[in-house]
Amino acid sequence: MYKVVVFDAYGTLFDVYSMSELADTLFPGHGAALSTMWRDKQIEYTRLVSMADPIASEGTKHYLPFWEITILALRYTCERLKLELSEYQEMALMEQYAKLRVFDDCLGTLSGLKDRGISLSILSNGSQEMLNKVVKNNHMSHLFDKLISVDEVCQFKILPVTYQLVLDEYKCLKNEVLFVSCNAWDVVGAAWFGFDTYWVNRQSWPYEKIGFKPTIEAANLLQLTHIVK
Ligand code: LAC
Repeated sequence: MYKVVVFDAYGTLFDVYSMSELADTLFPGHGAALSTMWRDKQIEYTRLVSMADPIASEGTKHYLPFWEITILALRYTCERLKLELSEYQEMALMEQYAKLRVFDDCLGTLSGLKDRGISLSILSNGSQEMLNKVVKNNHMSHLFDKLISVDEVCQFKILPVTYQLVLDEYKCLKNEVLFVSCNAWDVVGAAWFGFDTYWVNRQSWPYEKIGFKPTIEAANLLQLTHIVK
């Protein structure tokens, strides 16, 4: 049924929990607040730049790679929380993006799909180099045909042009793609675009009150084995 299964990266395949652990080591007592605000600000900035110039054919003129957006979001967060961020601390937190560990349910599931001839790829807001590093460090390079970064179109999810990258890459139809993400907003964007969606609800959160429901909701990736035929 599906030719291609496309995964979001952060939180879907790679466990971002270690971010708050490291943040708590660097700023004792502030790890949870820092990592939550940092993530929210990072996503807010992606939306700001995309909304400023949403129909640009060659990318928004306000585009900054996710790496840079993430640094700026970190600086904002620390200033807001009145935490002094040294160069060393900034580098340590940013470098953690390459060291995130893959969730336990991923490797077996992805290998099984790959063995059955299903094409697998990542579509992420992450910059190309960020994706290359985290995939390589987790010894997963052989699993994916391609790591697709929104860098190619200089826009961020959930602009339709970002999901279109999958169709351009595989020369396939929307209904041949299953899009997998832990971010409900990303599932909403992909479903609006026309993909079937699999929401990995790792935290037992409610689904968004806006948009189409996911085709499948599950607590981890294990159901993929049964769903993808
Ligand atoms: C990504 C973020 C949004 O990988 O999780 O695109």
